[in-house]
Amino acid sequence: MSKVLVLPGDGIGQEIVAQALKVVEYLNANDNLNMELVHGLVGGTAYDETGSPLPQATIDAANECDSILLGAVGGYQWEALERDLRPERGLLGLRAEMDLFSNLRPAILYPQLASASTLKGEVVSGLDLMIVRELVSGIYFGQPRGIEQKDGERFGFNSATYTESEIRRIGHSAFKIAQKRNKRVCSVDKANVLEVCELWREVMEEVAKDYPDVELSHMYVDNAAMQLVRAPKQFDVMVTSNLFGDVLSDCAAMLTGSIGMLPSASLNKDGFGMYEPIHGSAPDIAGQDIANPLATILSVSMMLRYSLDQVSLADKIDSAVNMVLDQGYRTADIASDGDTVIGTNQMGDLVVKALQG
Ligand code: IPM
Ligand code: MG
Repeated sequence: MSKVLVLPGDGIGQEIVAQALKVVEYLNANDNLNMELVHGLVGGTAYDETGSPLPQATIDAANECDSILLGAVGGYQWEALERDLRPERGLLGLRAEMDLFSNLRPAILYPQLASASTLKGEVVSGLDLMIVRELVSGIYFGQPRGIEQKDGERFGFNSATYTESEIRRIGHSAFKIAQKRNKRVCSVDKANVLEVCELWREVMEEVAKDYPDVELSHMYVDNAAMQLVRAPKQFDVMVTSNLFGDVLSDCAAMLTGSIGMLPSASLNKDGFGMYEPIHGSAPDIAGQDIANPLATILSVSMMLRYSLDQVSLADKIDSAVNMVLDQGYRTADIASDGDTVIGTNQMGDLVVKALQG
């Protein structure tokens, strides 16, 4: 029996999570998944109901659960709030509260969707890379930070900080994942300019000694961005800091042409994970039954694989999604000429139908 906290959040979060829950309900009823669902609030929706984007009740519930399934946070109506009340704070707060330092962002090209990429087919066909992003430190959380007055003008500042142990643990995450893949880690930094990255590089070298079967290389972040669009298949696992990982993972997602297909996991040292689609809350299309629920459905699969030790059910979900794509069904974001364009709800139903075999 596992217990999962469900946080749909804002925008399309509600409708896409609803589809993922159809999958969970099916597996509960037919495949002994035994997942108990607890529902909670996060983001702008939580702010509207409780005055906080991350209510204490949500943190308490997270601590009682084995994993979190999150939709997305954010929306225009909350953008003018002060920083600590904004929806993004809910997300960043959960990451920090649960110490979810290891963020796995796979970028996989589904062969059925090859024409959705803006890059040439031969550059991206068969693409399967994993970005391992440090998620609870670096410039996102470093102190001091702020906007102050200095010499008669405003002065803004943030601090890019990493301790050795913070670098070491994300290094171990990346190497362990590489061992299960193609055994190559590329560590991305800006060590030619930043001291914090010089330390990053040194510690990665030290960690690498524990993994003689994995090959470590280093790349500066500007080059890595270029290489991602030039020849992305050279990469297996990329490990990088919080901010660089934020930027590179959007870039990698777009290589696949279908950010609506990509799930992610954020793990702590005990394997507790928060699982969410890589895409955001897309408030412009919320409530219209057009959002793609597949990244959220695949987030459930990732949860079963990485936190709940239910690999065969994870495989089953992945096959069901592939089957629906093989049948030519697409939500609008991944449709090409000749495809059957369907809505959010119907996509959820079709995945459930595919699970039935
Ligand atoms: C992401 C998002 C978040 C981040 C935002 C919403 C705070 O862009 O998960 O990549 O910057 O980490
Ligand atoms: Mg981002």
